[in-house]
Amino acid sequence: MVRIVIFGQGLVATHFAIGLERLKNGEIPDYGVPLSNKIPIKYEELEIVGSYDVDTKKIGKTIYDVAKEVFGDTNIPRQLRDVYVRKGIHLDSMKGLPFKAEGLEEQKGLLNAINDLVDEWKSLKPDVFVNVITTEPANKLNTIENIENALINQKLSASQAYAYAVAKYSKETKSSVFINAIPTPIANDPGFVELYKESKAIVLGDDGATGATPLTADLLEHLAERNRKVLEIAQFNIGGNTDFLALDIPERNFMKKKTKSSIVEDILGYNVPNYIKPTGYLPPLGDKKFVAMIIEYISFNNFKDELYIIARINDSPALAGQLVDLARLAKIALDREEYGTIYPINAFYMKNPGPKEGKSIAKTKAYDKLLQWLGIKHGN
Ligand SMILES: NC(=O)c1ccc[n+]([C@@H]2O[C@H](COP(=O)([O-])OP(=O)(O)OC[C@H]3O[C@@H](n4cnc5c(N)ncnc54)[C@H](O)[C@@H]3O)[C@@H](O)[C@H]2O)c1
Repeated sequence: MVRIVIFGQGLVATHFAIGLERLKNGEIPDYGVPLSNKIPIKYEELEIVGSYDVDTKKIGKTIYDVAKEVFGDTNIPRQLRDVYVRKGIHLDSMKGLPFKAEGLEEQKGLLNAINDLVDEWKSLKPDVFVNVITTEPANKLNTIENIENALINQKLSASQAYAYAVAKYSKETKSSVFINAIPTPIANDPGFVELYKESKAIVLGDDGATGATPLTADLLEHLAERNRKVLEIAQFNIGGNTDFLALDIPERNFMKKKTKSSIVEDILGYNVPNYIKPTGYLPPLGDKKFVAMIIEYISFNNFKDELYIIARINDSPALAGQLVDLARLAKIALDREEYGTIYPINAFYMKNPGPKEGKSIAKTKAYDKLLQWLGIKHGN
């Protein structure tokens, strides 16, 4: 079995929980899970054993109850009645948002809160932790010493605190994997990668690549291979879910812009004026975001072409499907004892693949690297 703990029981996590149980019950096809049946770990082996949130409306409820509020009564797998949402670490990750939040550290301090989590996990025995909390402002800490100082001074972000706790649990109890699907630099932070190596743990990240970003990466590769000179890229994303509400706050938006625009220079080899970031919150759009993209480039004989792309994309299910793979790959990586971070996994599934030196590459190329890492031939 692969035992999974979730941080942040929001839309992505709830789609992940529901979709996974439906897959296990044979109720849905596995479209949107890139590796499908190409790897030996079956969906039935994945089990969500715990969940953490800081929204007082979610703490103490089951995932089933949280899902019912979002999706209504229809088709919510009964298995989710057994998993409760527990109180997590807040560290102001919800500051400025219209939700009442509470964290374990508020009564007992951060060090004790982390120790409590690690103790809780000694009985839950997770193998994999999935981080899908609200996008938060955070900076790289670069060394283990800086991480430890920030911990003592309560200067870590919530994701950094969870990442630290997972390393501690791995060192003391059982090797495990932290999947960082949000922009906070963890797999891109040399301090955390070192800490994970030392703790016999694995971190995968940062920021799940879904929606327009992987598509842009592949288009840029296409243009680069044909020696077309890209002049500018404009990419808009407008959505109506709480992720977009959070991304309306400038310092949170900046975190996304950083991970999204990292692809341009990495793939083209030069930078171009670009505007690639979430641009707006419009509630009636719900989770089905509106994406528009324009790429201008110079073709032969100095002629200028333009690509226009318009899409409506269901935001949260896209990442949830990839998490089904990531949890399975995490188990393979644990069995291989590949501690630290694993670029061939990150390059395909993440917007900003760690480690720090790991470039963003086209997802078509990354897919080949992933299959190579897995020892699978293309087409099998
Ligand atoms: N396609 C995608 O939807 C996609 C792609 C890449 C990355 N992401 C990232 O995934 C994350 C989740 O997206 P979402 O749409 O589910 O957002 P959401 O707002 O629906 O869910 C976030 C959840 O995290 C909880 N939370 C906030 N701070 C927390 C903390 N300190 N501890 C525990 N829980 C905390 C919130 O209460 C909420 O329940 C975002 O950071 C987003 O940027 C999403």
